[in-house]
Amino acid sequence: MGYVGLCTAATFASRDIRTIGIDIDQARVEQIRRGKAPLHEPQLDSMLKNAVRKKLLDATSDISVASQTDATFLTVGTPSQSDGSINLSYIKNAAEDLGNVLREKRGYHLVVVKSTVVPGTTNGIVKRFLEQSSHKTIGSKLGLCANPEFLKEGTAISDALHPDRIVIGSNDKKSAGELAKLYRRFYGAKLPPVILTSPEAAELVKYASNAFLATKVSFINTIANIAEQIPGVDVGTIAEAIGLDPRIGPLFLKAGPGYGGSCFHKDLQALINYSQNKNYDPILFRATEEANEQQASRVVGMAEKLLGSLSSKRVAVLGLAFKKDTDDIREAASIRVINQLNKKGARVIAYDPMAIPNTKKQLLDMIDYAENAHSALKGSDCAIIMTEWDQFRQLAAKDFQAYMNNTNIVDARRILDPKHYAHLNYVAIGMGPSKA
Ligand code: UGA
Repeated sequence: MGYVGLCTAATFASRDIRTIGIDIDQARVEQIRRGKAPLHEPQLDSMLKNAVRKKLLDATSDISVASQTDATFLTVGTPSQSDGSINLSYIKNAAEDLGNVLREKRGYHLVVVKSTVVPGTTNGIVKRFLEQSSHKTIGSKLGLCANPEFLKEGTAISDALHPDRIVIGSNDKKSAGELAKLYRRFYGAKLPPVILTSPEAAELVKYASNAFLATKVSFINTIANIAEQIPGVDVGTIAEAIGLDPRIGPLFLKAGPGYGGSCFHKDLQALINYSQNKNYDPILFRATEEANEQQASRVVGMAEKLLGSLSSKRVAVLGLAFKKDTDDIREAASIRVINQLNKKGARVIAYDPMAIPNTKKQLLDMIDYAENAHSALKGSDCAIIMTEWDQFRQLAAKDFQAYMNNTNIVDARRILDPKHYAHLNYVAIGMGPSKA
């Protein structure tokens, strides 16, 4: 019942499909049973409340209930290990435990791997442990599919209700047919294109999708860094113009401080590690990651250039979340920037509308926290905008002037209109110096 499991369960239940969420964390289970989402995601809370009230969604820590259902989705985490490879122990345990409870089941049961796993996992470790513990083989009584998800934090519910495509990987027609049937029931006339393929290909689709998106972000950040050297050039114009070419497309061309979140870095590292183990070095993806890592140093470099030295300077960091409308700071660029500011002797005060509790857990009292944007700006020598929260867009030049000690502004998300900041020390990612 993590992020993917919970959003998937809630949306199934919203379409009148009776769903049971299983998790080993008892407190989480109790919270879900009360109809309360244990994580922040727009629309999830109300959807969950409704589903629980209508008895379409229940939660338990007792995995044996899985045998009373027709299908089980494995949505456990696959975190990174120190060498970048993914930790498959949760998915292995889940497959084994599920197999144990399916041993006595008479009817057909479909097992669906939704977790992000490297190619070969469904047909390898999952199949092996499921078959061993259930004493059954994949076929007439037991089905197995790989079915990656493409949910984005912040829009996960709408992504689940209106996906661009459904990818089903299986080795047998029956299991693919059963899963396609479930999705036909779910989406009715609005069924998106369904790609039927092997489990390995389905698993690779997920990595290819995230690797492409991450590379698109590193690509536009690279163009942004070039644009910064050219008077009168703004990367926004370049993105708009190239985005009109349908072969390129307008989305994911927002230059910024580098991508964050629990997926891109983890998945690229896993793909690089997987590929290197197959004796192929995917240099493009290593460059995507390296460009992303360097982007944080560029943000710090911009502040340093404005201030001369960062030592003992008070720097207000506006935004901690890896993107707006979430409290998630996993792999957030803000943390990379704060760590570097700290090393350079700056005194950091940060504000975020949602992500302060999570940041406190990670950074403890390494930095100060403000209760709103204005108090973060108060007495500061430089402001760095790290997350594109709507409330930061509302800030006017006079807010910075009224509160800051020195009006140095680094707009790492490009959310302010440079026209209104020409009289301040305003710089933005991807914006070349103004023409003299
Ligand atoms: C990403 C994918 O977009 C989902 O399709 C996928 O299912 C998910 O990972 C996953 O693997 O579970 P997510 O991590 O929620 O979703 O966030 P994105 O909206 O993709 O943003 C990732 C990062 O890229 C953010 O830090 C965002 O600010 C940054 N970004 C995105 C840019 O800097 N520029 C852009 O133009 C777009």
